Formats: sequence, C-alpha cells, structure tokens
Amino acid sequence: MEVIIRPTAEDAAFLTARLIADAVRENPHIVLGLATGRTMTRVYELLVDMHQNKALDFSQVATFNLDEYVGLAPENENSYRYYMNQHLFSRININPKNTSLPYGIAKDLDSECRQYEQKIKGRGGIDLQLLGIGRSGHIGFNEPMSAMFSRTRVKSLTPETVAQNAPLFNPPESMPRRAITMGVGTILESRRCLMLATGKEKAEVLARAVEGPLSAMISGTALQLHPKCTVIVDEPAATRLTQTEYYRWVFENEPDWDKYRDAE
Ligand code: GLP
Repeated sequence: MEVIIRPTAEDAAFLTARLIADAVRENPHIVLGLATGRTMTRVYELLVDMHQNKALDFSQVATFNLDEYVGLAPENENSYRYYMNQHLFSRININPKNTSLPYGIAKDLDSECRQYEQKIKGRGGIDLQLLGIGRSGHIGFNEPMSAMFSRTRVKSLTPETVAQNAPLFNPPESMPRRAITMGVGTILESRRCLMLATGKEKAEVLARAVEGPLSAMISGTALQLHPKCTVIVDEPAATRLTQTEYYRWVFENEPDWDKYRDAE
C-alpha cells in the first residue's frame, strides 16, 4: 500500500481522476470498478471534463459498481444507478451496456449477487477499483464483521452508515436499511485499488484503515492485504496518520510519481 497526501480535496480528486484517465488511455478495454458517494462526484466531474476537452475515450471501457441499495429501482433518484448515470455515464461516451451495478429490486437477491460475481469474472475481472471509505470503515457497503473473503451479497447497514447517508434521501427515513455490495474478497481480487478519502471527518477511520491492525470490524483494513493499493488523501484526512513523513517522501521521490508531481 502507498499513501499519497495532497494539499486539498481538489488536488486529491484531480490526482485520482488523472490516474484513472491514464489507466484508460493505457488500456482502452479496461474494466473499472466504480464507487459512489459525495467524495467521488468531483472525480467524475473531472473525468467528464477530460472526456470533453482532452479526448478521453470510454467507448471500450466496462464498469462494475461496488454496491446498490436493496429496494431501489434504477430510476429512483437515490439509487446508485441513477447517481452513476447522472454524474458519469450520461456525460461520457461509454456504452451503457458495458456499465453494471447490482440490481437492487431483483426478485431473487442471492441469485442477483451470484450473477454479479459471474459477470465480473466473465469480463476478466476488475483492473482498477475505485474506492471511498465510510465512517464505519466500510469499503463498498462492507459493514463491520464483513468477512475478509466475502463475496457479493446483501448486507445490513449500520446505524452509523444510515446516519451518514440518510440526509441524501427525502424523506431521510426512506433510506433502505440493506444493500447489495461486492464482498471484501471481490474487491481484493481487483488488479489495482485506488482509495480516495478527503475531509477531517474521515481522518480517524482512515488512520484505522491504513495503519491500524487488520480487522473485520473495519473492512478498509483489508486493503493492507492488497498487492497494489494506492490511498489518496487530502491534508485534513491525513491528520491522524503517524507515518506522514514517509508517505510524503515516497510521493516526492518515487519515479512512478514523477509525472504527477507538478500537475496541480
Ligand atoms: C457510501 C458508499 C461507499 C462510499 C462511502 C463514502 O455509503 N457505499 O462506497 O465510499 O459511503 O461516502 P462519502 O464519499 O459520501 O463520504
């Protein structure tokens, strides 16, 4: 794992978008794993901008989202399918047929979860998985006690997650209490992970995920097991990390980061 600290949330989102764009340019048939949430909206805005102004081409790209609320139809404004269409898919040249999210209103949810796993496998697996982190420490909707080897399944949301996301619903009480989420094991199989966390409210949980002991209580800690995981944070989110001097040294000196250093 490497942790990259950027001065502001804008810088962190910009670096994240650039890494995704470079990965798409390097492999036009890339399979992206995508995330939702407030943190990602700016990343998607930047990708749309790169599509419109820098010829970033998504025509051959396939995507799989991490999760979807149980009980929300794709056309529901609070569904993650709606979020993705609105923030990204409708604004770039991706083939809608190549975009996948779990179907939150499937009659047989277990079968939907199994099929989602099969679909990912059928596409050859996820090349680059974008991730945020929830205040409960979740990646996707892998709430505390999610097995490190878990697969796509239905998960009950914690009161903390409900408190975090209910304000986005009208009325807030209408927020579903369950979601379909890729499992921690599913996420760990992606070839590269890219986590973005910004803001001081993420500082505590981020430090636990990145530097704390491995624990199913914080599914984000599982990323410590991933062979190629980059965590991008802004200064406020980095305030609880202990090894910041080392992380800064890596960004300033590792050749891999050369071309990204002067990009702000
Ligand atoms: C959501 C999603 C996660 C997301 C996280 C952070 O509930 N299931 O995939 O990373 O919580 O959300 P936000 O960026 O709004 O803080």
